[in-house]
Amino acid sequence: MQTKNGKWKFHSACLLFPPLGKDELQSLADDIRERGLLNPIIIYEGQILDGRNRLLACELAGVKPEFKKWDGNGSPLSWAISANLIRRHLTASQRAVIALDLLPMLEEEAKQRQRLSAGRGKKGATKSVTFSETGKASQIAATITRTNSSYVEKMKSINRAAPEVVAEVRSGVMTVNDAARLAKLTQPQRQQILAGIHNDPDQSVRRVMRKVLVNSVKQAPASDRQGDSRVEILCGDCLKVMHEKIEDGSVNAIVTSPPFNRGIAYHTYDDNRDKTEFSEWLDQIFHELHRVLHDDGSFFLTVGHAPKAPWAAIQMAEIAGKHFRLQNQIIWVKSITVNETSHGHFSPIQGERFLNRAWDYVFHFTKSGNVPLKRKAIGVPYQHDSNITRGGHGSTVRCAGDVWFIPHETIHGSEDRAEHPATFPPELAERCLKLAGVENDSLVLDPFCGVNGMIAAAKLGVRGIGIDIDPVYCKSAKKLLG
Ligand SMILES: C[S@@+](CC[C@H](N)C(=O)[O-])C[C@H]1O[C@@H](n2cnc3c(N)ncnc32)[C@H](O)[C@@H]1O
Repeated sequence: MQTKNGKWKFHSACLLFPPLGKDELQSLADDIRERGLLNPIIIYEGQILDGRNRLLACELAGVKPEFKKWDGNGSPLSWAISANLIRRHLTASQRAVIALDLLPMLEEEAKQRQRLSAGRGKKGATKSVTFSETGKASQIAATITRTNSSYVEKMKSINRAAPEVVAEVRSGVMTVNDAARLAKLTQPQRQQILAGIHNDPDQSVRRVMRKVLVNSVKQAPASDRQGDSRVEILCGDCLKVMHEKIEDGSVNAIVTSPPFNRGIAYHTYDDNRDKTEFSEWLDQIFHELHRVLHDDGSFFLTVGHAPKAPWAAIQMAEIAGKHFRLQNQIIWVKSITVNETSHGHFSPIQGERFLNRAWDYVFHFTKSGNVPLKRKAIGVPYQHDSNITRGGHGSTVRCAGDVWFIPHETIHGSEDRAEHPATFPPELAERCLKLAGVENDSLVLDPFCGVNGMIAAAKLGVRGIGIDIDPVYCKSAKKLLG
């Protein structure tokens, strides 16, 4: 179990889990000194299979360690992982990192299986060759570590694009989804964000990311700016502004979220209007949006709704449907629980009647109902490599479908809200704009832009017009764009 120079030999399964920190190890050593070693250290084929921390704590406590040979059935690797998972409180994201580490071991086992089935290498065969004979390695790794295989796939991409981010997920600083976002940024942006997170661990990862991204738009030299100078924020009533400033058929994509008449406390706009008057007003808005939209343009209508008014979103879409064709209906999932792990922010609700609302509608309207979309621009990688070649589509991604998980940032206080009570995340607008296939000279419109409405257009470097009736929101929106 020890090398010639007295170092312990650890099984690779044992090294998958992060060692205890200094203080935790000291408490374990104190406990062992006082009560003795309660669980022996497990050895397998001359290596420590389980109990690395117990062994180090025994040395620290000056207690003679007790060893026991592993006598289980099946895979020692799987057993050691399972034993550790029971003891450790790891998130699904942290377990996905362990699954990532496990992949080369599973691949090694697969090779051993191949050697065995070819009738060679029987001598080298070990008890550990007991994982499923079929199935993709990341699925097997996900099953063993009790996480989901899409997380494992994401961790593989993160490891390829930004290996330094893997450690952040391993230590529990960020989730797989946040790390995937971070991995898509440039290396200097990643460094700044990681420094920001480490300097102030109480801040949410998303919040730090957003600050750094907004700053990098502001600080970029004029020629590098991702079009913020091409995005205008116009303060005023959108019907009037559109009528005066926007030509017929000149807008390629509209992404907007109008007021919902739900009594939201906006700074100036009164969100408690007479129902009929509100519907008539929406009708005029949609008529005007139809006028300005290009024949091949896309109009994405995001409607937040309350459980108390379950038909309100549909009714709004019906009014838009008098002017446009409903081409797609997207469900924007803001928060979700999968296998007891929650992702995103769950807004608290009063009373026992309703479930927490975790999604909203995004209605995709076009003039003809037959406008081609850039589905691959927001595609997701195929789960199985064989799908890439099969069918001859020559693409590594497939359509992402019509349910989009874009977690809503946890709201901490007024600074996060940028003094607006009903923002959508810029990632939502970005996804819509990419799907609509906007290009450099495209014109994008948000007639109710609030503070966040034009961030995506600025990021993508397209021309944009954002309109809001409230001077305070317009000022914030301009500030965010630099
Ligand atoms: C749901 S919020 C949009 C928030 C925005 N999507 C964001 O993420 O920041 C609706 C916005 O419509 C604005 N608004 C209300 N009536 C308006 C009008 N007639 N013209 C322009 N903006 C208006 C409100 O001030 C409010 O900011």
